[in-house]
Amino acid sequence: MELAGKKIVLGLTGGVACYKAAELARALGRAGASVQVVMTEAATRFITAVTMQALTGNTVYTDQWDARIANNMPHIDLTRDADAIVIVPCSTNFIARLAHGTCDDLLSTLCVARPARVPLMVAPAMNVEMWQNPATQRNVTQIRQDGILLLGPDSGDQACGEVGMGRMLEPEQLLEEIIAAFQPKLMAGRRVLLTAGPTFEPIDPVRGITNLSSGKMGYALARALREAGAEVMLVSGPTALAAPYGVRRIDVQTAQQMLDAVLANVSGQDVFVAVAAVADWRVANASEHKIKKNADGDLPQLEFAQNPDILATVAALPKRPFCVGFAAESEQLEQHGAAKRARKNIPLLVGNLGPQTFGRDDNALMLFDQHGHSELPRADKLTLARQLVREIARRADAS
Ligand code: CTP
Repeated sequence: MELAGKKIVLGLTGGVACYKAAELARALGRAGASVQVVMTEAATRFITAVTMQALTGNTVYTDQWDARIANNMPHIDLTRDADAIVIVPCSTNFIARLAHGTCDDLLSTLCVARPARVPLMVAPAMNVEMWQNPATQRNVTQIRQDGILLLGPDSGDQACGEVGMGRMLEPEQLLEEIIAAFQPKLMAGRRVLLTAGPTFEPIDPVRGITNLSSGKMGYALARALREAGAEVMLVSGPTALAAPYGVRRIDVQTAQQMLDAVLANVSGQDVFVAVAAVADWRVANASEHKIKKNADGDLPQLEFAQNPDILATVAALPKRPFCVGFAAESEQLEQHGAAKRARKNIPLLVGNLGPQTFGRDDNALMLFDQHGHSELPRADKLTLARQLVREIARRADAS
């Protein structure tokens, strides 16, 4: 319930993407928010107020002169206790009206009348030519300067059949962005590079050696860092996870590829977090072709070579970022954690407090720094990731 107790005014303007606003309204409700829908006249051509009312359990307003509001000032009444106003979808015309501060219906008036503390987020949805039009771009620059937060747009297939920029973000991406807007910006202006997931070391073109890392902790941390305002780049081994919205991901397979990607991108980074479960060894005599079963029952002989230690390599750079390591230990975490931090020569090491955390949605962590160790009690990985961001921000500030 990441939005528990939050009141969100969800504004709909005219566009085919209104059907996605219905999905978002449900998702916001599931996340604990109370949702108050306000629609423009054009929006009611695409989806009915009945649908939005049924999904949110709240009366939908469309009219500035709605007599159901006792003092007849819905633009004031609906905004005073709001935690955020989100316009989904936001049409070309509505962006233009926001840029000019026009008050010619309930939704536009409410945006202008909102108290300064209430964030306004808009999710543009329009045809690519309309998005690229110089007037639209001028208006977008203006509303950004006015402190309005743009959620997207994305590039892709459009309802009109054309392809390009202007496609609205998907409801789950919008939900991530709305939740992110409520997180403290502890990492604003910082650049962070992370590794996550397992590595895969080939034996032949169809087989390989890997481990049980799901990537969940690293991806949760990438998301939490981005929510906290950081510019995040994720170097990821093979996982089934989607990159968090706004995080740049580079996909790799082997430890050597992970090292190469990290070294190519480490310059200018403020923080490096090594969450990946990197294979310590690779197969030195990997076969170019699939190894066939031998009729005589002879078994293939694999030879191993040591993989580079990515974290230790970054920690040894002359202009190194603030380095954070993770430790996967199956026993004696306290002793091994402290020793590993010293051996890797890093300011912060995070130990997974077993028994088995790989693949699970929750975890408990033990943090090791120069003062000793402390615990972050068991919680879901995103909650832990947000707590960890606080710990990283505080230490990186002091370093
Ligand atoms: N790590 C790395 N490159 C490697 C091995 C590990 O960057 N080749 C990083 C991991 O991402 C993690 C930290 O080092 O942040 C510790 O990884 P772990 O597997 O716990 O430790 P190892 O260094 O491999 O030591 P051991 O396996 O002996 O415990």
